[in-house]
Amino acid sequence: MARCLVRGSINIDEFFHVRDIVRAGETTSSSGIETRAGGKGANQAVAIAKAGGQVDLVGAIGEDGRWVLDQLKKFGVNVDDVRIAEESTGRAIIQLAESGENSIILFKGANYAGLDSPPTLKPTSHLLLQNEIPFASTLSYLSLAHSEGILAIFNPSPMPTTDELRTFPWDQVSWLLVNEGEATDLLKTLGAPNVTPFEAPENGLPKTPSLLTSYSAIARLSRHSSFSQSVNIICTLGSAGVLALLPSLSQPIYVPAAKLLGQVTDTTGAGDCFTGYLVAELMKLPSGSALDEETMTQILKICVQAAGICVERKGAMGSIPARSEVFERLH
Ligand code: ADP
Ligand code: NA
Repeated sequence: MARCLVRGSINIDEFFHVRDIVRAGETTSSSGIETRAGGKGANQAVAIAKAGGQVDLVGAIGEDGRWVLDQLKKFGVNVDDVRIAEESTGRAIIQLAESGENSIILFKGANYAGLDSPPTLKPTSHLLLQNEIPFASTLSYLSLAHSEGILAIFNPSPMPTTDELRTFPWDQVSWLLVNEGEATDLLKTLGAPNVTPFEAPENGLPKTPSLLTSYSAIARLSRHSSFSQSVNIICTLGSAGVLALLPSLSQPIYVPAAKLLGQVTDTTGAGDCFTGYLVAELMKLPSGSALDEETMTQILKICVQAAGICVERKGAMGSIPARSEVFERLH
């Protein structure tokens, strides 16, 4: 039975609705406040659970975050290995201006508290990592997963430092998930290899400048020597959909974003929703089986549909749809 371990962040997000983002020395009043559970680790774990996957979240919160754990449990995430630390729970203070701009203060808090490394990851079959916890912890989980034959998925968000990226053991990662900005940043940091990227696919890929830039970035990344052509790359493109480059397939795959029923309400967490659904679908594949183009395309369609529903609704974690809602729309 497939089981995913998410080693990642858990936050309390506080949203303040302001006319303008407050300036130095100024006091402004907020017309509303919302407090929600968040953090990339927690969001992605919830997405896996909602997509029907078995998931364990490993992280840390403070006493002030116990309600967050209750929520995660309700969504079906196993939180038995979340530690209650001395520090307060990681916290994001988010100002939302009328213009739509935002400004965020992030306190890492308990996300950076020490955790004991697990002696073994069994019965884990999949490991999912982001970058909102100490980088050393990410590396130790990754190395353990590698030695135990566990499939690792990495969403390097927010981007690690230049030194961290250049020394990163890419050979221990099976799937890399980035958005457009992250793809180009990563390529810039690692240095564009002197190779001809694959020809842009004839089928489906709209040849807009921004899509071709993202395509060229991941095509170059996939040929980068440090990737040893073994890393599957998924690049989400916001409202343009998603691109996938799998070394085992001769053609890149492009899937456009889902058709929305309503308007875009809140894109927060869309990437996390996409990631969780992708991992849940990968967990359903028989281990060791090679992915064909048709299966991969179908998986991406499920993911863009899930993320599409997510952007129609307010919030991040709470707006991730259940598997049944996603499949209703696909039919
Ligand atoms: P991130 O939030 O990590 O930057 P993206 O913005 O690329 O990620 O969004 C992730 C996925 O969410 C996209 O691949 C797409 O399927 C979906 N999505 C995002 N924005 C929209 C939108 N405006 N309309 C429809 N789908 C969207
Ligand atoms: Na949302």
